[in-house]
Amino acid sequence: MKLMVMKNYDEISKACAGMISELVKKNSEAILGLATGSTPIGTYKELIRMHKEEGLDFSKIKSFNLDEYVGLGGDHPNSYRYFMDHELFNHINIIKDNTNVPNGKANNLEEFCKEYDEKIDRAGGVDIQILGIGSNGHIAFNEPSSELSVGTFVVSLTESTIEDNKRFFESIDDVPKKAITMGIGTIMKAKKIILLANGKSKANAIKRIVEDRKLTTEIPASLLLLHPDVTFIVDEEAYGK
Ligand code: F6R
Repeated sequence: MKLMVMKNYDEISKACAGMISELVKKNSEAILGLATGSTPIGTYKELIRMHKEEGLDFSKIKSFNLDEYVGLGGDHPNSYRYFMDHELFNHINIIKDNTNVPNGKANNLEEFCKEYDEKIDRAGGVDIQILGIGSNGHIAFNEPSSELSVGTFVVSLTESTIEDNKRFFESIDDVPKKAITMGIGTIMKAKKIILLANGKSKANAIKRIVEDRKLTTEIPASLLLLHPDVTFIVDEEAYGK
């Protein structure tokens, strides 16, 4: 595992966008694994700037997102499809049909999950996966538990995650209780993984992974220690400085 500790959020965003743009320039048909949440917004802003000012070309890029709330359609302002369209896709020249966000309104959710993994495999696998981390150590919606899933699956969200995410909804009762999420195995298949973390609330999870260097399903992100090419880019606060 490679660790990069940067001064602040702006720096982690630029470092991450720099790594993505390097890949996109080298491989115009690269497959990006993307995350939602507040952490990658700065990265997406920087990619948009690179597209507008430097002509970074996404016309042949494909993407797969980590997760989506069950029950929310793409036109719902709290859906992750809506987030991706508004925070990134609408502002770069990626072809919408080449972007994949799990369908939270699929008729058969189990079947959808199986097909999502197959679609990623058929596309050739994710070249670079961007991850945020929950304050409880979750990645995507793989929550702390005695067991973790391998492939994409339907998960019941924990109280802690519902609490973390309620800021995006009018009330806690509006936060969906289930989501579709890539499993740990799906994430681990990416050729390269970048985990971003900023702010004090992430310091405990980061410390337990970076210092203890132990694998535990109670901190799902600790499983990333097994990946051959993973970089944690964290700011000083998330590093506990
Ligand atoms: C989002 C996702 C989540 C977030 C995590 C951190 O697609 O999979 O695991 O990365 O909850 O969220 P923020 O960035 O809002 O702190």
